[in-house]
Amino acid sequence: MDFPLFHLDWLNDRFLIAMIAIIHVFINHGLAVGFIPYITLLEQKGVMRGGPDQVTDLAWDKMVQRMMMVGFVITTTMGAMTGVGIWFSAALISPNSIGSLIRVFYWGWFTEWIVFVLEVIFIMIYFLTWKNSNKSLRAKQRHIRFGWFLSAFSWLTMAIIVAILGFMMDPGNWIEEHSFINGLTNPIYLPQLLFRTPTAMVIGGAFGFLLIMLFTKKESPIRPTAMKTTAIWTLLWLPMSILAAIHYYNVIPEAMTANMSTAVGTMEFELYYDILKYIILVATSSLALLAIWVLWKPKKVNLIMVIIPFVLSLGFLGIFERVREFIRKPYVIGDYMYSNLIREEDYPLLQRDGILKHATYTRITEITDENKLEAGRDVFMIACSRCHTSQGINSIIYVFEKMYGIGKPLDINGMKAYIPNMHNGRPYMPPYPGNEEELDALAHYIYYLQQSGTALEGSQSAGSQLNPTHSVEHFIEQKSKQQ
Ligand code: HEC
Repeated sequence: MDFPLFHLDWLNDRFLIAMIAIIHVFINHGLAVGFIPYITLLEQKGVMRGGPDQVTDLAWDKMVQRMMMVGFVITTTMGAMTGVGIWFSAALISPNSIGSLIRVFYWGWFTEWIVFVLEVIFIMIYFLTWKNSNKSLRAKQRHIRFGWFLSAFSWLTMAIIVAILGFMMDPGNWIEEHSFINGLTNPIYLPQLLFRTPTAMVIGGAFGFLLIMLFTKKESPIRPTAMKTTAIWTLLWLPMSILAAIHYYNVIPEAMTANMSTAVGTMEFELYYDILKYIILVATSSLALLAIWVLWKPKKVNLIMVIIPFVLSLGFLGIFERVREFIRKPYVIGDYMYSNLIREEDYPLLQRDGILKHATYTRITEITDENKLEAGRDVFMIACSRCHTSQGINSIIYVFEKMYGIGKPLDINGMKAYIPNMHNGRPYMPPYPGNEEELDALAHYIYYLQQSGTALEGSQSAGSQLNPTHSVEHFIEQKSKQQ
């Protein structure tokens, strides 16, 4: 309401954030948080394997360095770009929620940015000093210590961000008293961190299996040992990841049902929840099977056997993020701000006066027959466009046609009867925020969208206009009228 809204009609705005975020999580968990301690461990093992007159086992060390090169290149390019990209896209699509989060977590974020920049610099140092560190045992040991230090740092960036993710799902007692500490100690934070930590280690191991297969030859004597080390690493973290997943799985519904005003037992929710359960089971057991097989027959592993559990474990992580995002609905910040970027506490006012009266970017001050479609468009932009498109993915025409018949002309009165009640049957949607006249305009606009096939343009291409009643001139005029 307070910002000109960016909108991608063919893709769906939520999708844009999701794509960037999921790639980022794969890289962050798999090639930074979980991977760097794993690589450091391998580096250390190289030193142990080296003979009395050697700093390290050079062939082994070369393999580990090449594996780290993949981590280095991907984390400092794609990883860093998608990391910034998440906040960039989220701020574009959901400016009010990012605004609120920054107000609550200002110092958290500030710290996170510093830690993040340092992490990128440290990864560079770790990788770029690798070769030189092989000159003496002392230098090598210092390099390994630096690896452990870097591991702690990568974990720290994740640990800060997870506080914000947990907060968005359930702000806990922050709702009663808005303080940084109350936001930080939200009920989902620790269970989520407890889950992400061992899971990142496991995914790091899955990347490890894959890279060893790529960087060693079949007959190489170091391959079986490296694979076995990775197997032990994975098997050690896997039970922790599963236990933490179960704990997290149990914490969510409790918090959601206890603290959130809407029920979570919708069809969609159960569906995703079930998928999550099975994919956890399939992904973790396929990784466990691979690890056990590797310990048993380390020379009889082929690429396919490694790729399948690798892909499954990325799938597991992806679906986990999808579920996390979904169950938060209809809120973007639990019990505080709906996904349409309107605060729950502002609803009574908006439903009485209408949303357009309080919107900063609209030309409509009064709905008439002439401007009805434009008013409807602005209402749609504010109330529905964060989740629905006009003609693209999850289009408003499609969701209504699904109810009233595909291809049939939409019924304006039917839509007007449905929209004010939509949150009851579909609790993942926020209640309709506007008033009666705006509802009429919205229904006419949706009908027009269907009939004309036009697409909704975001402010980035259509521009935006300031609400005439929000201007300084208007304010002065009102004042002089009063006197
Ligand atoms: C928080 C995101 C969100 C907002 C905001 C939102 N919706 Fe939805 N809506 C959804 C989702 C998700 C679905 C389910 C789509 C599917 O079937 O997969 C949905 C489904 C629907 C359906 C079909 C319901 C059914 O029973 O099948 C209608 C109609 C609908 N939305 C209308 C609207 C209108 C009108 C607005 C704006 C006033 C709106 N929605 C705002 C997320 C949202």
